[in-house]
Amino acid sequence: MIDKIKELIAEAEAFTAQSKEEIEAFRIKYLGKKGLLNDYFSEFKNVANDQKKEFGQVINALKKAAEDKVNALREELESKEVVNGVYNDLSRPGAPIHIGARHPISIVKNQIIDIFSNIGFNVSEGPEIEDDWHNFTALNLPEYHPARDMQDTFFIQTNPDILLRTHTSSVQVRYMENNQPPIRTISPGRVYRNEAISARSHCFFHQVEGLYIDKDVSFADLKQTLQYFTTQMFGKSKIRLRPSYFPFTEPSAEIDVYWGLATETDYRITKGTGWLEIGGCGMVDPNVLENCNIDSKAYSGFAFGMGIDRIAMLLHQIGDIRLLSENDVRFLEQFKNAL
Ligand code: DAH
Repeated sequence: MIDKIKELIAEAEAFTAQSKEEIEAFRIKYLGKKGLLNDYFSEFKNVANDQKKEFGQVINALKKAAEDKVNALREELESKEVVNGVYNDLSRPGAPIHIGARHPISIVKNQIIDIFSNIGFNVSEGPEIEDDWHNFTALNLPEYHPARDMQDTFFIQTNPDILLRTHTSSVQVRYMENNQPPIRTISPGRVYRNEAISARSHCFFHQVEGLYIDKDVSFADLKQTLQYFTTQMFGKSKIRLRPSYFPFTEPSAEIDVYWGLATETDYRITKGTGWLEIGGCGMVDPNVLENCNIDSKAYSGFAFGMGIDRIAMLLHQIGDIRLLSENDVRFLEQFKNAL
């Protein structure tokens, strides 16, 4: 009987099949309820004691050979089915690939970078965790200066010298400390202010800073540069520089673009005036130049700062600033066709 089982093992190992039905017939023959294996297992009690061990071994080997064969044949058949059924049909549509979208802040930031790089500005960056010197003191805002209150600051509790930058003007200081004129740089980045979150304001948002330092730079250069920018960015060339105050510039101005009053939305966003404020600017205060080791007798320059979130909201008709940081895909997906 043992020899017979050994023959069956060889037979099982040599078995091949082309269809599910053949595999199933093989399985029933060997492993089914009334199959060969069960017959042999019930035979076990009749086997002479001295042969029990070997008998046990061979029927277990037969069981394993049959099971392995069934599994191997099933796998082989399945992979053939995949090849024939799926990959050989080249006319099948491809699996859908989920295409991401650039974030509206990145879209607008890149547009701003493009516009300024066309007139020779490079891009510079600085840390979001700043020290007092770069965010305030060097920008002509010494300790106890009342204008520090213009921006509600997040301080690091254990060290009042360290804070989350309240504006990208801090990058101006870093750039001037490390580079001598001529300087033409823009610095986009995230800034933080301790403000209540609402549809219109957030405790973090994005700015882009501009800085131009050279010999004989004038206010007219500033105005031309801003006008070039608004024309490129919004298609609007009419701008207004409204006198204002910033400690780091003298004179200082608020930048307004004439948006027009063509639609109802124009009325809403400009509060019925047609004018829209997009940022601040001015001629860099000589004190700031000196703080950054630039000779204020030899050089002058202008600077400006604008809110990226505001521009993005304006261009893409986004009604709530919080949408820009919630990362809701239903919102973000809408920018698939943008730049
Ligand atoms: N730092 C100012 C702010 O956050 C914006 C600003 C105004 C930047 C005038 C400048 C500037 O560079 O010259 O409100």
